[in-house]
Amino acid sequence: MSADDATIVHREPTKEPVLSLSGVDSGYGEIQVLDDLNLHLEAGEIVCLIGPNGAGKSTVLKTAFGLLEPWTGSVTLRGEEIGGTEPADLVRMGVGYVPQTDNVFPSLSIEENLQMGGVAREDGVDDRIAELYDRFPILEEKQAAKARTLSGGQRQVLAFSRALMMEPDVLLIDEPSAGLAPSIVEDVFKNVRTVNDLGTSILMVEQNAREGLSISDRGYVLDQGTVRYEDVADELLDNPEVSKLYLGG
Ligand SMILES: Nc1ncnc2c1ncn2[C@@H]1O[C@H](COP(=O)(O)OP(=O)(O)OP(=O)(O)O)[C@@H](O)[C@H]1O
Ligand SMILES: [Mg+2]
Repeated sequence: MSADDATIVHREPTKEPVLSLSGVDSGYGEIQVLDDLNLHLEAGEIVCLIGPNGAGKSTVLKTAFGLLEPWTGSVTLRGEEIGGTEPADLVRMGVGYVPQTDNVFPSLSIEENLQMGGVAREDGVDDRIAELYDRFPILEEKQAAKARTLSGGQRQVLAFSRALMMEPDVLLIDEPSAGLAPSIVEDVFKNVRTVNDLGTSILMVEQNAREGLSISDRGYVLDQGTVRYEDVADELLDNPEVSKLYLGG
C-alpha cells in the first residue's frame, strides 16, 4: 500500500476540542498551501505536527494564529469561530504562538522580553514574571542579561516564557528544537512538557519527528498541505509506513 491509498484513522475528539481546523484551505496570495486540512487539539494534549519541508506545517500554525486568513473552512477556539481573527485578539483569548525564529528581542534583557510578552495584561506583569522565574530559574539568574547572550536552549526557554506571560491555554510552537545541538534537544522537550503540565494545550511542529512524537499524545503527518496520517503518537511511531516515509526508517 502506498501513502496515497493509506486510510487515515480519523480519531474523533473525545472532548470538545480547544482548537480545531476543519476543511481549511489557506495559502499566500494566489499560492494554495493547505488543502482541506482537518486537525484538532483537545484540552491538556500535546499534539505534534510532522512532515517534510514545505508540507505546510508552519502555515497551519500561521492560519490558526490569524497571521493568514483561511480561504475556506473553519478555525474554532473552544467552539467559537476565530478564522481570520487578529493575532492580538487571539492572544487576549488565550492563544500563544512561538515562531521558529525571531522569537525573542535579542537586544533587550530577559526581564524586558518578559515585560513585552505581558504588555496586554491588565493586572501588570510582576507577579507573572515572578511565577515564571520560579518555574525557570535560569531566567531569574540572567534577568538583566541581553537575550542575545543566552544559549540556544536558554533562548527557547525565554521564547516559551514570553508567550506564557499571557497565560495562554493553547500554545502553538514552531520547531522548538530547530538548530539546537542534539544534547540540548532533550531539555527543550522537557520544557515543552513543563509548559503542558502547567495546564497549556500544545500544538507543536517538529522536524525531530521521533523525539517530538515521543513526548506527544497524538500526532499528524502533513504532506503537501493535507493530513496523510493521524493517530496517537505511539501508534504513529510504530507505523511502518510512517516510519519509512517520514521518520527516516
Ligand atoms: N510567505 C510566503 N509566501 C509564499 N509562499 C510561502 C510563504 N511561506 C511559505 N510559503 C510556501 O508555502 C509552502 C509551505 O510552507 P511552510 O513554511 O508552511 O512549510 P513547512 O512544512 O513549515 O516547511 P519547513 O519544514 O521547511 O519549515 C512552501 O512551498 C513554501 O515555499
Ligand atoms: Mg516550517
